[in-house]
Amino acid sequence: MIRDKGCGEIRESDIRRNINLSGWVFRRRDHGGLIFVDLRDRSGMLQVVFSPDVSGNAHELAHELRSEYVVSVSGEIRERPDGTENPNIPTGTVEMYADKLEVLNKAAPLPFCIEDAGDASEALRLKYRYLDLRRPEMQRNLIIRHKATKVIRDYLDEKGFLEVETPVLTKSTPEGARDYLVPSRLNPGYFYALPQSPQLFKQILMVSGFERYFQIVKCFRDEDLRADRQPEFTQIDLEMSFVDREDVMEVIEGMMKRLFKDVLDVEIETPFERLSYHESLERFGSCSPDLRFGLELKDMADLSEKGSFRVFLDTLHSGGRVKAINGKGMAGLSRKEIDLLTEEAVSFGAKGLAWIKVKSASGGGFESPIAKFFPEEIMREMAKRLDAEEGDLMLFVADEEKVVYDVLGRLRVELGRRLNLVGTGYKFVWITDFPLLEWNKGEGRFEAMHHPFTSPMDEDIEKLLTLNVTYDGLLTSHFSLLTSIRAKAYDIVLNGHEIGGGSIRIHRRDLQRKMFEILGISEEEGRMKFGFLLEALEYGAPPHGGIALGLDRLVMIMVGASSIRDVIAFPKTQKASCLMSSTPSRVEPKQLKELYIRTDLP
Ligand code: AMO
Ligand code: AMP
Repeated sequence: MIRDKGCGEIRESDIRRNINLSGWVFRRRDHGGLIFVDLRDRSGMLQVVFSPDVSGNAHELAHELRSEYVVSVSGEIRERPDGTENPNIPTGTVEMYADKLEVLNKAAPLPFCIEDAGDASEALRLKYRYLDLRRPEMQRNLIIRHKATKVIRDYLDEKGFLEVETPVLTKSTPEGARDYLVPSRLNPGYFYALPQSPQLFKQILMVSGFERYFQIVKCFRDEDLRADRQPEFTQIDLEMSFVDREDVMEVIEGMMKRLFKDVLDVEIETPFERLSYHESLERFGSCSPDLRFGLELKDMADLSEKGSFRVFLDTLHSGGRVKAINGKGMAGLSRKEIDLLTEEAVSFGAKGLAWIKVKSASGGGFESPIAKFFPEEIMREMAKRLDAEEGDLMLFVADEEKVVYDVLGRLRVELGRRLNLVGTGYKFVWITDFPLLEWNKGEGRFEAMHHPFTSPMDEDIEKLLTLNVTYDGLLTSHFSLLTSIRAKAYDIVLNGHEIGGGSIRIHRRDLQRKMFEILGISEEEGRMKFGFLLEALEYGAPPHGGIALGLDRLVMIMVGASSIRDVIAFPKTQKASCLMSSTPSRVEPKQLKELYIRTDLP
């Protein structure tokens, strides 16, 4: 036995017992006569004292200990003397007096101090990920991730879901990102794609009669990376037969309730609030709104019309929007500070940021470069609409709708953070009633807003089926009809992060074909890419629907991290590389030759 217990498990009930422990030297403090070592293993930390009065040998050897040496110690557990307790750790009232010490392995000088690794550059932490992962904080994150997946598996098992694995070497399934491709040696010139999600396979499983499927599964997307995006990430993916939106939502709400209770001991209120896509954009400028604070966007078109500020009037007349938010208590900002805020808005895509300071609520109290364009009484109306009082700063953006939403939505989040309005806690919201289609200006065609297998609302199905689609004529004759069709799609948002999305699917072959037609996917292309799905729909496909949650994002929020990299053991950088294993890497010319691949690179 190298150890009897974990370091972090020692308690007052162990006092006067002789115990063996093993672990890493976290800190060593030499107090002349006594040497103190904080010994760490996965369970936590214990203070070990080396005293010449207890063991001369052990005390002598303890002089040589350095950070991250692996040691085994034994000795008596004692109560810490009054005044030396550490209330911050569970073992803070006890310590071990070591009578034996064995060094099991030495450690080279560290590239960064484990204790202060949070201050080391992330590149260094990722290169030495095995050291970074020794940090109690990282261990806690991965332990919570483990617990979360276990609770979710158990929950779904209880609800009658079966975990079924789907292929990793597969055909491209479109989720809107680029595919990672894998060449096939046995089929020269042919490629597998790593799945962006198991979307088609889970639908096929419904056709096969499994009724309730789930999988905790790696997905791969070659897209631009951010704090909440990785090239490979994990989905809690599920699909159900004979259901409508409500059934899927109920399963997920129950899952979140159980998850937060069992893992964090937090009560989550259900059912979750719901917002339509349109309302979410109008009020929060985003389809993943953080509802932990207000600062809602207000429409200012009618009041702008009553003034003479050209920027606002011109924008409105060309079909744009004017909206505003209330910078609560920010009237004290200097010109310079407002300029900085304007620069920020411009970096979000705005052309400018108009502002009006509310100096005195009762009247005669507005200060602004655009005040001259508005009668006082109109500015009072504006203040009223924004709930702006003395000391507040009204901020306006005029632009095309998309830009107004995006800029004010991002400004809202930024102000919420700056003004400390965000607070703590967990605020879930469902976003529903997404448009089915989105016009891609650049390519001059419609795209599926969620994915091409998402069902339109029942009332729109007949309209779609009877549409005579010729792609060129479509624009003029059916444009407004097509943009008005809503999808049976839903996203789930937690604290301003999209943590999941799903939909009720199309289960009729004629509708699926029509959808491909509208998306400009030719019969030929449809057959080549999704032929197996279209065929499967011929043979008695049940109505079905599902959802996928981003496990990494969910756990990131649960542990309070600001990047999903902190809840993934071996994440990749912004450039999609692993700094520890130096991935991706060049391969042998022989390997390329076998795959019939030539590169143009030097
Ligand atoms: P969607 O594309 O919305 O839906 O993905 C579901 C959830 O996965 C998470 N996610 C990511 N997390 C980290 N890094 C990424 N690159 C990344 N991309 C997505 C998000 C997102 O909400 N097949 C559909 C689901 C369905 O219709 O059932 C799908 O994949 O939290
Ligand atoms: P200007 O008329 O360019 O001097 O701008 C007057 C004020 O309006 C400045 O504070 C600009 O930042 C602001 N502004 C300019 N364009 C816009 C716009 N599209 N939306 C909101 N404010 C704007």
